[in-house]
Amino acid sequence: MQINRLDAGELAKKFGTPLYVYDFERIKDNARRLKSAFYSDEIKTALFYSVKANSHPAVVHLLKECGYGCDCVSPNEIEIALKAGVKPSDIIYVGNYESLEDLNAVVRAGTKLVLDDINSLDRLLRITRPEMVSFRINPGKGQGKYEQINTAGIKAKFGVPHEKAWLAYEKALKAGVKRFGAHMMAGSGILEEEHFPRMLELLLDILGQISQKLGITFEFVDMGGGFGIPYYGDDHDLDIQQVGSECLKVFKNKIDSLPIGKPALHLEPGRYLVGDAGYLLTRVIGFKESYQNFAGLDAGFNTLIRSALYKAQHPIIVHNKENETELFPINLCGQICENTDIFTVGRPLPKLTEGDLVIITQTGAYGYAMSMTYNHRLRPSEVAIINGQAVEITRREVMSDYWNRIKYPKVQ
Ligand SMILES: Cc1ncc(COP(=O)(O)O)c(C=O)c1O
Repeated sequence: MQINRLDAGELAKKFGTPLYVYDFERIKDNARRLKSAFYSDEIKTALFYSVKANSHPAVVHLLKECGYGCDCVSPNEIEIALKAGVKPSDIIYVGNYESLEDLNAVVRAGTKLVLDDINSLDRLLRITRPEMVSFRINPGKGQGKYEQINTAGIKAKFGVPHEKAWLAYEKALKAGVKRFGAHMMAGSGILEEEHFPRMLELLLDILGQISQKLGITFEFVDMGGGFGIPYYGDDHDLDIQQVGSECLKVFKNKIDSLPIGKPALHLEPGRYLVGDAGYLLTRVIGFKESYQNFAGLDAGFNTLIRSALYKAQHPIIVHNKENETELFPINLCGQICENTDIFTVGRPLPKLTEGDLVIITQTGAYGYAMSMTYNHRLRPSEVAIINGQAVEITRREVMSDYWNRIKYPKVQ
């Protein structure tokens, strides 16, 4: 298999496995496509890359060059965005259960800020009386490719319930806040085009009621991210052009008919920009014929947790066996001492042999960013393909990284 014209086998030989490889050209294409889908002469739109999806500063910088600001969920993500050259005014902090320390750091950094709750406003007011306040509103329903990534609705931990949202804005108004924004994130990994305009319309109607009640207007309305990519099985490409034009139509109609002012439309895409640009390269270590047939890989849920966490299924390619037609069902697992360390069960794949290079695709989002060192299996390196060259952008973790942080009292 080739990744942007570079042979995956050569990349694995040069940089070792497990290894994340990102195709920067693909990220640029995704960024352009999404930006043009939401372009309008009449509506001001602003795009914020959701750093949580892949927080490597080189990725953040690339997207900054493509005209994207950043959506950050922690002060450390803000630090990464600033180091990547993003201006504070192009950063939006969307936290949850924001501590006083977090809020202090955000206020010091001077970024935009979205509060997750009315109680967060109380904490913010202990630090400062801001000129502008925005709340994340839970519109009462959402969607997600998996239940766990439905970030709105009655089971979600996020946002102010929409029935109470006016109270949050009223409190801010009474505290002397003059300018307002609004935010929603109604789920992730969504491939249904209609979801986006439908949820945007719902949010705008909620804001219309708040405006009517309190006489306030909104400077921006942030519809979050959630744009899905195809992973496996029946998944299809999201028609982003349709999503963009339908959302812009709804937005225009609503700002013309509701007393919400002339807000800008904000977006916070993560997965759509980087997901399909990432490849996880891993080698087959060995086999077990047990009650089921297993092939063990040198990557596990420590490297890519999405299958263990959501039962997510990724496309899997066996290098140099792409064209084999005889397939055998197999379970692929990692080396972690947990029964959930399984990427796939009964996946039809070419006959595997020890040392085969297995490529798990669509792993540019929530891959390395969610990796960990459980069982002291250390984090892999990351390589970017930039202008046809493979460049290591994160070196493989080594045990001295661990020992550098450890204090080891000699207990008698
Ligand atoms: C507040 C917020 N914005 C943006 C995103 C990015 O979502 P996605 O990667 O689905 O575009 C998330 C993801 O959970 C989020 O919580």
